[in-house]
Amino acid sequence: MPGQGAFPDVRPRRLRTTPAMRRMVAEHRPHPADLILPAFVREGVDRPVPVSSMPGVVQHSLDSLRAAATAAAEAGVSGLMLFGVPEEAKKDAVGSPGTDPDGILQVALRAVRAEVGDALVVMADTCLDEVTDHGHCGVLDAEGRVDNDATLARYAEMAVVQAEAGAQVLGPSGMMDGQIGVIRRALDAAGHRDVALLAYTVKYTSAFYGPFREAVNSSLKGDRGTYQQDPANGREALRELALDLAEGADMVMVKPGLPYLDVLRTIADRVTVPVAAYQISGEYAMVEAAAERGWLDRERAIEETLTAFKRAGADLVLTYWATEFAQWLRARF
Ligand code: PBG
Repeated sequence: MPGQGAFPDVRPRRLRTTPAMRRMVAEHRPHPADLILPAFVREGVDRPVPVSSMPGVVQHSLDSLRAAATAAAEAGVSGLMLFGVPEEAKKDAVGSPGTDPDGILQVALRAVRAEVGDALVVMADTCLDEVTDHGHCGVLDAEGRVDNDATLARYAEMAVVQAEAGAQVLGPSGMMDGQIGVIRRALDAAGHRDVALLAYTVKYTSAFYGPFREAVNSSLKGDRGTYQQDPANGREALRELALDLAEGADMVMVKPGLPYLDVLRTIADRVTVPVAAYQISGEYAMVEAAAERGWLDRERAIEETLTAFKRAGADLVLTYWATEFAQWLRARF
């Protein structure tokens, strides 16, 4: 007879009794193919340079980048998102290395495409902050403000140069109004109709980008509050989403990751294009630092965060742990 006195009729714990039982009923599981590895490549170095605030992450030399791309592909990772770090002396107010066919990012794109062919989807960060001497994502006007429309002209040029170097997907990350539309038209006009756009649709101004500044030797002083979104705003994400889709985004992204899972869920419920989440430098650094002190179990924490992105609706996750995590997953079968 069911429900004897105070005892429950229904027992969710039955499905949690063993690891095999839990595995069978798991609703979400990250897969190597969901993962995209962001990677930094630095001009003028012949060996990788460690990024101290991101233990395990380096500024690659061209050789170590080739090796990392091969390792990612072998682990089953889907894509590589490349960031170029030019020699300091080459940075200028308009970000010339970004549109130079021999700029480090373009050299790296060609090297990686030659190395891995189509085994990985090769992506490029389409932004100016890595190549400007002031570190902003755009060019500045006479008052020192980021000039939206002058920046768009630079992005258009940059996009074509990156496509010509072999980028298959571009990630415009500067949060300028109109950037997706302008880049799409520039690519099409130059004959690059098949180069896809992964729009940084919802990109918040965030303290968690801290370690990235070291990773790209950024010279930025202050923050990006006049162009990136305010963390206080959720509804505004829908406005950015509508614009990016109307302008031709092929995929959309939410960034940072963990502090914005609510926004990720909202976006994922509304679109028919693939949705990505970017687990950024500061999220990586937090886990690594706590694990180093023995304050949490590193592998469990990494898996939990990546599972959370899937649960919140991400199809793709950009994570600095992509190769390592994909290797763990593969080792299980
Ligand atoms: C801008 C860009 C940034 C990141 C990716 N693209 C920095 C910023 O917007 O301040 C951050 C990535 C990370 O923190 O891991 N080109």
